[in-house]
Amino acid sequence: MKVVIVRDKEEMGKRAAALIAEQMRAKPHFVLGLATGSTPLPLYQELIRLNKARKLDFSTTATFNLDEYVGVPPTHNQSYRYFMNKNLFDRINICKAATHVPDGMAKDPDAFCLAYEAMMDDVGGIDYQVLGIGSNGHIAFNEPGSSLASRTRVVALTKNTIKDNSRFFKRIQDVPTKAISMGIGTVLEAERIVMLANGTNKADAVAKALEGPVSVSCPASALQMHPNVTWVITRDAATNLKLEWRR
Ligand code: F6R
Repeated sequence: MKVVIVRDKEEMGKRAAALIAEQMRAKPHFVLGLATGSTPLPLYQELIRLNKARKLDFSTTATFNLDEYVGVPPTHNQSYRYFMNKNLFDRINICKAATHVPDGMAKDPDAFCLAYEAMMDDVGGIDYQVLGIGSNGHIAFNEPGSSLASRTRVVALTKNTIKDNSRFFKRIQDVPTKAISMGIGTVLEAERIVMLANGTNKADAVAKALEGPVSVSCPASALQMHPNVTWVITRDAATNLKLEWRR
């Protein structure tokens, strides 16, 4: 794996955008895998800037998001579809029909998960997958203990995640207890992966994932098995690394 250690999250966003843009320019009908959360926001800001400056075209790009809450409609301001529209899709020249976020309102969520994988296969798979890491080492909604071969499926959210999320919802009964998530096996099929991390609260998980054993106790450690992963992380997220990654 390649590790790029940067000063701050703005530089993290710029470096990751440059990696993605280079590949996008070389391949029309590019397929991007995307994440939500606070970490990729500087990357999305840079992609928007490049698009507005006419340096990056999204008109033939397709996207697939990692995850979505079950039972939260796309119009809800806590849905991942809403997040993606607001923070990226509504601000670039992408065709909305080519943007895919798991359907949390699907009548048959298990059938939807199979269909979502088939849709990714139909377009030839993900060319570049963007990931963030949870402070417990999760990727997408694959919490510690998830199979490293897992596929897109419905997952139960942990008590901790439900508690953390309750601040974003009016009533406790509105807090989602399930999500649709790409599996770790699904993520590992992407051609290239860029993992982003910033903040000291990620330093432990980053060190475990990069320097610990490949283990279900740290889902992000599975990236060690992928031939083309770049970690773009800020100095504070790199503080617990012991090995010399600066080359
Ligand atoms: C979001 C996702 C999650 C986040 C992770 C980090 O689509 O898949 O795994 O990447 O929870 O979240 P932030 O970036 O908010 O720290």
